[in-house]
Amino acid sequence: MDVCVKILVAITGASGSGYAQRLLDHLDPKTHALHLVLSRNAETVIASELPGGLRIPDGVAVHQNQDFSAPFASGSNPIDAMVVIPCSMGTLGRMAQGVSDSLLLRAADVVLKERKKLILVPRETPLNLVQVRNFELLLLAGAILLPANPSFYSRPQTVAQVQDTVVARVLDHLGLPHKLAARWRDQAPGMEER
Ligand SMILES: Cc1cc2nc3c(=O)[nH]c(=O)nc-3n(C[C@H](O)[C@H](O)[C@H](O)COP(=O)(O)O)c2cc1C
Repeated sequence: MDVCVKILVAITGASGSGYAQRLLDHLDPKTHALHLVLSRNAETVIASELPGGLRIPDGVAVHQNQDFSAPFASGSNPIDAMVVIPCSMGTLGRMAQGVSDSLLLRAADVVLKERKKLILVPRETPLNLVQVRNFELLLLAGAILLPANPSFYSRPQTVAQVQDTVVARVLDHLGLPHKLAARWRDQAPGMEER
């Protein structure tokens, strides 16, 4: 798998801003060009879920969601991969319908049309038919649907370790090496049974 060079992390107003924090904590701005954009509703959820707010590592370029002058708003200068984490059903629906009225949505539109990697980490339960149809549309358009469904076979002990079971799969799909969560059948002896 190719290693991604230019990565855009997008945070929306779904629950699970801790997943975005863990991803930012594990991306290296010295190795990759890292960009960040937040929806307005993301800020509301971050205020509820992340005491002390979002920690943005040095070297990450932060873009305003209404600033269409960002380089990756154009297909002539796309990013290599965009991760929407967590991804609200509202943003997912707008992406599925090609609504492109914010930088975040325009970037997703560009990533899909330029056949770059779009990794969506939706967080919602249960799902209605509209949402499932939107999932299908985005899959058909080439997006990777990677729901924020943690796994437990690595026996995570902390909330951060639970979050990392999802972030590890995101890093896998970005093609980035990591040791965030034990892989099935790679864990320590005595942890084999499911
Ligand atoms: C604390 C909080 C948690 C929320 N959790 C979710 C969620 O898990 N999934 C979801 O689709 N929407 C969730 N919402 C609703 C979204 O924030 C809302 O639909 C918003 O319009 C999404 O806007 P955005 O996609 O532009 O960020 C939540 C809202 C709040 C205030």
